[in-house]
Parts: sequence; C-alpha cells; structure tokens
Amino acid sequence: MAAFSFSLVMCLVAGTVFSNVLYTENESDLRKTLFENYDKLVRPVRDMDDVVVATVGLSPLRIRDVDVKDKTVKLDTWLVLRWQDASLRWVPSENAGLEELSIAANDVWRPDIALYTASPDTNLFPSVMVNVVIFHNGTVLWIPPYSFKSMCSPQDDEVTTDTFRCTLEMGSWTYDIRRVTVHEREQDVMQGMGRETFKDTNEKWTLESMTARSEERMYSRYPERYSLVKFDLLFRKKARSGE
Ligand SMILES: *[C@@H]1O[C@H](CO)[C@@H](O)[C@H](O)[C@H]1NC(C)=O
Ligand SMILES: *[C@@H]1O[C@H](CO)[C@@H](O)[C@H](O)[C@H]1NC(C)=O
Repeated sequence: MAAFSFSLVMCLVAGTVFSNVLYTENESDLRKTLFENYDKLVRPVRDMDDVVVATVGLSPLRIRDVDVKDKTVKLDTWLVLRWQDASLRWVPSENAGLEELSIAANDVWRPDIALYTASPDTNLFPSVMVNVVIFHNGTVLWIPPYSFKSMCSPQDDEVTTDTFRCTLEMGSWTYDIRRVTVHEREQDVMQGMGRETFKDTNEKWTLESMTARSEERMYSRYPERYSLVKFDLLFRKKARSGE
C-alpha cells in the first residue's frame, strides 16, 4: 500500500513537472518549443519508411496568354499545397488555446513541388515565399501565388478553332513515391477550378473547365516511380463581333 501510494505520488509529481515543461503561454513560446529540435532539411516523418502525402491544388486567377501556335499557356494562379508534418503537432489546451500558427515558409520543410511542364524560360517552382499555416494536428497549408508559362502538348483532335486544351503536370522534383506522393484536391476533380478566385479578364480566351487527377510515372534512367498530379484545362475562345 505504501509502495503504491509512493509511486502514485511520484507519477503525479513527474506529471506536473513534465507538463510544466510543455505548457506554453503564447505564440512565441509555442514556436520555440516546436522548433527547438526541428530540422527543416529532412522529411517530416516519424519513420524513415513513412511517405509524405501532399495534396496539390491549383486555383487559376487569370489567363495571361494562350498561344495556340507555340502550344503554351501563361497563367497566374495560387498553388494550394497541404501535407502533414509529424514534428509540428501540439495540444491546444496545453498551449494557450492556440489552434494554428502562421510562420515563414522558409522555416519549415516543404515538398519540392514543381511544374514538370514548365517552359524553360519560366519558374519551375513558386518563388514568392508567403507564410505557411501550421494546424495543431500537424497539417501544414501553404498557398503561394504562382505565375508560370507551361508547355502544352494538345492532341490534334483536341484542338478546334474555338478551344485549346492544356495539361499541366506537377509533382515532387526529387522525391520518388517511397518518399513523397502527390494527390489532387477533391474540389479540383470535377470542374472544381476556383471560380471564386478566377477573373475572366483575358480578351480572347476564357477558362471553361479544369479537372485534376493523379498518376505515377517511371523515367527510364531511374528505378523508382514518381507521383504526379495532372490538371486538364480547357480554354475557349471568346466570341467577338466581326470574326
Ligand atoms: C510569452 O510567455 C513567456 C513566458 O512563458 C514570456 O517570457 C514572454 O515574454 C511572452 N512573450 C510575449 C510576446 O508575450
Ligand atoms: C487538421 O486540422 C485542419 C484544420 O482544422 C483540417 O483542415 C485538417 O483536415 C486536419 N488534418 C487532419 C489530417 O485531420
């Protein structure tokens, strides 16, 4: 009985000391606690064999150019990336009730999602380092603006005088499917393109639809498969008087 009481007391004492260490009072405390031993250069997984699953979405903002001859499109978009970081989790009730934290994108590991179909004279990656939002459950959300020129390889039968199809491909630049996989957002699967963000300002073209799907691909020189998301965009020429 005495031994039992003693260990119970020890547990309570240890519990109190332990939780005092973890409790934080404000955002600054929480950030320090989370990032004390954080290494942004390694994949944020508990186990080396775990795969980081990134959701890749695209919200078109406006069409800068559709070049049917050159088979390229120029777009302003928001890239919407979401993944889990196993090191960046906390219990809100023990951390001043904080549910999320907004911090510099450069401070966290990010999947190196690139536009595989990028034209050589454009950015392969988003270059504007807006903040990421980290939720207490470890979900990280990053929505950088991304303007690019993409190559398209439309099938001949898909091109009419009024429409132009372009398929954009995105995926991790370096990680194969054992490390990072990418998946489309649910709302991009069916006609989901962010109508709420799209400004139909191009004089000649409008974006009629956008759908997304994911697949895996092998490259001849590498043994592993790579995961990618494909966005199928259908542009339609606007009717103009006199044409
Ligand atoms: C956050 O709380 C700690 C005590 O836990 C305190 O030392 C620090 O000054 C506080 N910082 C801010 C910005 O309130
Ligand atoms: C984590 O929380 C955010 C915000 O509530 C939510 O959108 C997200 O789906 C959650 N992630 C997981 C893996 O449950």
